[in-house]
Parts: sequence; structure tokens; C-alpha cells
Amino acid sequence: LPLTAEVRDDHLFVGGVDMVKLAREQGTALYVMDEADMRTRMETYLHAFRSRYANTDVVYASKAFLNKDAARIVNAEGLCLDVSGGGELACALTTGFPAERIFMHGNNKTPQELREAISAGVGRIIIDSRIELRRISEIAGELGVEQAIYMRITPGVEADTHQYIRTGCEDSKFGFTMREDFAYGCVKDVLATSHVRLAGLHCHIGSQIFSLHSYPEAVDVMVDLMARIEAGYGYRIEELDMGGGLGIAYTADDQPASINQFAETITTAVHEACAKHGVAEPRLLVEPGRSLVANAGVTLYTVGIIKTLPNIRKYVAVDGGMSDNIRTALYHADYEPVIANKAGQPRTEIVTIAGKHCESGDAVVIDMPMQRPDVGDIVAVFGTGAYNHTMSSNYNGQPRPAVVFVKDGEARITTRRETYEDLMARDI
Ligand code: LLP
Repeated sequence: LPLTAEVRDDHLFVGGVDMVKLAREQGTALYVMDEADMRTRMETYLHAFRSRYANTDVVYASKAFLNKDAARIVNAEGLCLDVSGGGELACALTTGFPAERIFMHGNNKTPQELREAISAGVGRIIIDSRIELRRISEIAGELGVEQAIYMRITPGVEADTHQYIRTGCEDSKFGFTMREDFAYGCVKDVLATSHVRLAGLHCHIGSQIFSLHSYPEAVDVMVDLMARIEAGYGYRIEELDMGGGLGIAYTADDQPASINQFAETITTAVHEACAKHGVAEPRLLVEPGRSLVANAGVTLYTVGIIKTLPNIRKYVAVDGGMSDNIRTALYHADYEPVIANKAGQPRTEIVTIAGKHCESGDAVVIDMPMQRPDVGDIVAVFGTGAYNHTMSSNYNGQPRPAVVFVKDGEARITTRRETYEDLMARDI
């Protein structure tokens, strides 16, 4: 639930705004973001890390959710920003986000994207391969600058999460592998390359991680590598970026670690590993996406059709689906729905909320408890603030929903709903 969610007279309120009224005014499907929830988590992250490890920066992974207002909020809260391509970079720069606090990621950034990033002056580019190293060196050389980079390392640690979002294991398209000491050997090439400065090492072991034990393992691998680089090449690595990955509760059964536990685990591991390997404590970075914004999000839909298949299930079809939330079809993700106009009533039915798309797998929620639905009800689905809007599509010619931020009883549209004209705007 968003932090400010409450029930008044059977209606769901978020940010002091009546979700039923908002849905009727703005139309559905509609993405709602609780601004206080986002800001509180950003502040919690910064405090959780800096109170334990002063030299920490929190880098928001904008692939989770990004529009101009979100970029402004991240900037105002003092976080850095992870962009995974030229599009996210352009959005951030348009809002005046300081380039030196932007980190660019991606396993195959195009030469064009690299040029955009380097000429904008982004703070760090996380390199993923030797080919990219050469590209960056050439472009930075042409522009007459030195680009600070991190090397992305795959530390060979298996995080316990869905295999599609597990990224730190050995067979991965990301980063420099630790196998046969490949990454260590590549450091030598990086140090010999002109127009780049190796500022740090990066790893990201996966996403929606519940059990934190993989982080100290990954920290140890990374700090050991830092120690070997210092001993072998006489070069000190000054920054360590441990990526993101902290999971959130999508349902009441999910028991994720808290932001404070995450900070405690990582900072303790860094202190211990640096002492063990005799390494000076680096600047520490973490890159959370989901755990900053997922809980802030609620998607509102209107119930259009109800079908009861005796002894099978009840299908409740809404005016959205896999075009605004692909996660259920893609990962069998679970979400908890409530009927926003019956929010105070008990959840007495098990329902499957289907979308309106031409695919049998098009579902938002599969077999979850909800209040008894009627046609015209407003369904609210929680936990949709991350990887919903950013993974949305126009399948079946569906215009993307608007994004509304709510705060202190006020609602403001931060991204307007797409129109049919938008859908055709690129056609020649
Ligand atoms: N840093 C890097 C380099 C990443 O690739 C990611 C996520 C993050 C940070 C942020 O991870 P988070 O804190 O959000 O777990 N679409 C999937 C999630 C894909 C995550 C991709 N990388 C989903 O909907 O579950």
C-alpha cells in the first residue's frame, strides 16, 4: 500500500484524494503515484545509508519509473540518477537534472547514445565490454574530455529471484565475467586506455530480492578484486556501486527486507570486506529502482465485464491489462486488488482480473481475493509504481494511461493520457 492510503466512507483515498472520484474525472486506466511515499522512501534510503556509511550516494534506477516530474523530485531529494539509454538521459537533462549526478548504464549503448552522454557531461558511464571501452575512448578523445567510468563486473553470485531478472550469475549478457579472471585482465586494458578514468567498479546481482545473503557475498568478491587491482597494478579503485535489487511486498504473503536492513547488510559487508582485504573504504553507491517507487503506485481501472465460469473461475475484465502492466503475463507477478468504491468491505471473492487485450495470458491479477465486483466498479491495483508505466505498450491500439501524482489532497497530471492522434503521429 502507498504510505498515505486510507479508507473513508468505503472509498479508497491516496494522498488525501478520493480514488473513485479521480477515476471518474480522469478516466481509466489511470496510473496514480503517491508523491509523499516516493519522497519518504528516498529520504529513508539516504538516511539509512549515510548514517552507517557517510560516503554513500543513492542512484535512482529510472527504468523503474520516469517522467519529468519524477526526475525533478529525484533531483530535489538529492539522489543521483541511473539512465539506461539516450531516452531516459534526454528526459533527465530536459528537467535540468545535473549531468554530473547521472550514471549511464546499458550492455549495448549505441555510439550515438555514448556521444550524447559524454557531450552532456554525465558523471559516470558504466562500461560493459571492451568494445564499448574503445568507443568511449574515441568519442571522449574527439570531444577533448576525460570520461569517468565504472566497470560492470558479474561477480558470479546467484540471487534468489526470478531467472529473467537475475543478472549477477556467470552466464549473463551483462558485464565483465570473473571467469578465468577475465575482468582482472581487462582492468589492465582500461588503465592503459586514453580519455577514460577508471573511477570504480559496479555490480548488480538481480531484482526483487528478498533474502539479502547474496549481497555480502558479492561485496566480498568486489572488494577482493579492488585489493588485487591495487596490489597488481598499483591503482586504487575509489568507488564501489553495488546496484539495486531490494524487493517489495506485492501481497500480504511477501516478506521483503526493509530499507534499513538492506543498508545495514551492505554497509556492514563493505566495512568488513575492506578491513579483511586491507582496502581503503571507497565511496559507496547503491542503485535502487523498485523499492523507491513501486509502493507509491496504484493503477485504477473500471470493471466492464464479469463472467463466471462455474467451478473454474470468475473473470473480471477491466479497461487496461498487459499494455499498462505486462508483469503478470511476463513473470506471473502477483498483485493485490481492492474495489476502490467498496474499500471498507471484506474481500469475499476470489477473482481473476483480465485485461481487454487479444491474448489469453492478458491478466492483471490471477485468483486473488477481492470485494464482490459489479460492472462499473473502480478496481485499484497496488504496487504498480515500478516497471509498469516504463514497460507499457500500445498493443491493440491502446493509448497509454495518464500519470497523476497525488499529494495533500491535490491531484496533478504529470503525464497526459495518449490520444489516437499520438498513436498515429509517427506514421508517414
Ligand atoms: N541497476 C541496474 C544496473 C539494473 O539493471 C537495475 C534493474 C537496477 C539497478 C534496479 O533494480 P531494482 O532496485 O529495481 O530491483 N522488469 C523487471 C525488473 C527488471 C530490473 C532490471 N534492472 C520487473 O518488472 O520485475
